[in-house]
Amino acid sequence: MSLERYQYLSNVWKDGIFDNKVVFCTGGAGTICSAQVRAMVHLGANACIIGRNVEKTENMAKDIATARKGSKVIGIGAVDVRKPEALAAAAEKCAQELGSIDFVIAGAAGNFLAPMDQISANAMKSVIDIDVLGSYNTVKATLPYLVESASKHKTNGKTEPPNGTGGRIIFVSATLHYSGTPMQSHVSVAKAGVDAMAMSVAIEQGPKGITSNVIAPGPIADTEGVARLSKQEGRDKSAKGIPSGRYGSVKEISDATVYLFSDTGNYVNGEVLVVDGGAWHTSGVG
Ligand code: HXC
Repeated sequence: MSLERYQYLSNVWKDGIFDNKVVFCTGGAGTICSAQVRAMVHLGANACIIGRNVEKTENMAKDIATARKGSKVIGIGAVDVRKPEALAAAAEKCAQELGSIDFVIAGAAGNFLAPMDQISANAMKSVIDIDVLGSYNTVKATLPYLVESASKHKTNGKTEPPNGTGGRIIFVSATLHYSGTPMQSHVSVAKAGVDAMAMSVAIEQGPKGITSNVIAPGPIADTEGVARLSKQEGRDKSAKGIPSGRYGSVKEISDATVYLFSDTGNYVNGEVLVVDGGAWHTSGVG
């Protein structure tokens, strides 16, 4: 399923801006995260994607590698983000095989539709563990590499960093918790935690040259998230309620990613970038 550039990345970005850089991504076999990584690879990066399913993750890595001739993309499957030792081993393998970790996307997430009274304690814990603990494990495992990457560009507060800065984190969150979203109490709690973590990391690690931001996608067409959460027949109606009048595309999440990871995002830290066509402002869509 090799994709054309216009399907995962806008034409405004220059080829080569991520040359010699490495992106590490959990949830990397999923629709949104694979597009984010594909865009980075297209623009010069090598990549390591992490997933639970071995075959799906390895196949996706091969497919992403087609975005740029000569790229290196590793797929490490059988990694559950809830297990810190598995992530530490994956981060080490990534750095050994690709030379560094300059960018991290904490994208692994779990979701299903269920009202609170039908969510068992274990179901609640599973989602919180995948989203919150998984994001924490991801950052914990990769932070030493990110700090090393950022140290090459540290400015000591004097000037803006040189081109090609590394040491950046994007957490993939959601907009569900901005208002009360029925059937989504588990994910709302988890994503609020992810947002809070991103802010703390920004404040704590900023002085080391790290940036930590959140991308909060709204309803994005053709994704597992939307497939899990809505039926096709309801989607046309709900798209009309979005101020932009449509669902988003994975390309729009990739573009936000490149913005935050490239020099355009040098001075953005501790922010949530909502990419949802204005949906959450209307309440009830998101
Ligand atoms: C109620 C459910 C359930 C459902 C599972 N459970 N599905 N409860 N309704 N539909 C319960 C189980 O019964 C069990 O509780 C507990 O959850 C754990 O389930 P397991 O299957 O044993 O665990 P695990 O394999 O870890 O699965 C985690 C999962 C699953 C989150 C439940 O859905 C998953 O693996 N999802 C990963 C992929 C995914 O969700 N991607 C979409 C991300 S989209 P008991 O008590 O029986 O033991 C996204 C975007 C959000 O996050 C924003 C969208 C706009």
